[in-house]
Amino acid sequence: MKNIVVLVSGGGTNLQALIDAQERGEIKGGKISCVISSKEGAYALERAAKAGIPAVTLPRKDYADKVSYSMAIKEELDRQKADLVVLAGFMIILDECLTKAYPYKIINVHPALIPSFCGEGFYGLKVHEKALEYGVKVSGATIHFVNEEADAGAIILQGAVDIANDETPETLQRKIMENVEWKLLPKAVSLFCEDRITIKDGKAYVDLK
Ligand code: GAR
Repeated sequence: MKNIVVLVSGGGTNLQALIDAQERGEIKGGKISCVISSKEGAYALERAAKAGIPAVTLPRKDYADKVSYSMAIKEELDRQKADLVVLAGFMIILDECLTKAYPYKIINVHPALIPSFCGEGFYGLKVHEKALEYGVKVSGATIHFVNEEADAGAIILQGAVDIANDETPETLQRKIMENVEWKLLPKAVSLFCEDRITIKDGKAYVDLK
């Protein structure tokens, strides 16, 4: 069984989707062993407690910079013997002292179709505001590995939704979460835990059977 550690910063609906999938037996070969929050009082922590999953809070504000914060997260991941790290609504860009220590072992969910609307400054609702500002007709979410560059690691799964004429950032966010994120994140996590993702020339290939 692989140890899955989930990093969160806020509401934790993606964490909830992972917990629900786990309870339905859909995460094969892995188990959520710990949740780490970058924010005290994040609602995601209540979700972890309700599911009986141990949680640790490492507030970003307690650390001087990105490097010392990433080192603290790395130490916690090492302690937890993490086989897979899932960034589920985690709003902090991690330093390479962590990403290089866990190559192809950190998965992120980004609420747009990478390479659109991604990189530094694109997180949460801002991503959807930018997509609507541009006037794109489809958007979606991407599940990808995390490397040294923000939102630039190998893509595992992507899914799209149509954008309506009267779409708002809030309705688009909800539409993408419901139709893509909450389905594809648990799927990617299970694929990883079942060793069904291979890396070749920096790209991820999924064995969908
Ligand atoms: C989700 O839409 C997630 O994709 C996004 O923030 C939301 C958090 O939801 N993540 C990012 O923007 C990371 N760059 P949640 O806390 O309810 O899972």
